[in-house]
Amino acid sequence: MNPKKDLLGIEKLTGKEINQYFNLANKFVKVLERPIPIVPSLRGKTILTLFFEPSTRTQISFSVAAKRLSADVINFSQSTSSVSKGETLLDTAKNIEAMKVDGVIVRHSAPGAAKYLAEQLDAFIINAGDGSHEHPTQALLDLMTMRQNFDNFKDLKVLIIGDIAHSRVARSNIFGLKTLDAQVAICAPPTMIPLGINKLGVDVFYNLDDIIGDFDVVMALRIQIERQGAGLFPSVREYRTLYGLTKERVHMMKPKSIIMHPGPANRGVEIDPEVADSDKSVILDQVKNGVAIRMAVLFIHAGGRIE
Ligand code: CP
Repeated sequence: MNPKKDLLGIEKLTGKEINQYFNLANKFVKVLERPIPIVPSLRGKTILTLFFEPSTRTQISFSVAAKRLSADVINFSQSTSSVSKGETLLDTAKNIEAMKVDGVIVRHSAPGAAKYLAEQLDAFIINAGDGSHEHPTQALLDLMTMRQNFDNFKDLKVLIIGDIAHSRVARSNIFGLKTLDAQVAICAPPTMIPLGINKLGVDVFYNLDDIIGDFDVVMALRIQIERQGAGLFPSVREYRTLYGLTKERVHMMKPKSIIMHPGPANRGVEIDPEVADSDKSVILDQVKNGVAIRMAVLFIHAGGRIE
């Protein structure tokens, strides 16, 4: 593999590139099972996690991944930085550059923020979520989790439920799944379906009960309750009634199907607690795979070589 400098999205990745991340991540899964789960691959490298939006899973997962590869890690949070005093993204970037950081993991509310930094900095840039655009490592860990549960993507039927229009997770997953030849469908109220979604080759449904029994993978997205004022759905209660993953709906699913959620989950809204904690749920596998995938991403983009 001759890796590109940055990982900004899934849209432009080939199936071969996606599989190379998986293959390396699977090797790192074995490293993570060792009593001392550390390799010296990135010793001497410095990785910065630059998060302008809140995160639990992604920032911690990247930090753990970098430490498992023996890199030095610096965690940046907007609230404690000079950004809160008005410093621009470019000035922040230039200061980072002056400190000779090798790689930057960036999350920002603006679509394109990661691409902008990639154009400004010699350091490699990994997009950890840019607005509603892309969240590539989330999609890679989701795809890896699907692959662990099913033989191939070609016959796989994946349903994504929720606010597709504002979801970078949905976009990145759709790009990756379509590249790998999976069948993808979305189900949501019409207000949460983006215009032109059919061009991505996904099927669109509005009635969950009619179709949930057809799918191997059912992924619920976080309902952004803070958006309720935007009129996307009349009430949280109505959303749960029509689109929530309840135990009644789980009984309608295929016997070997799995349930996914990228987190953070609103228990009792898009997914009921007993469903999130059920045997069908692979939510914690997603989190576990996130460390291995991010080790693979850091290794590759920091210039490591795959044997
Ligand atoms: N899935 C995800 O991006 O979670 P965080 O917002 O906690 O990083």
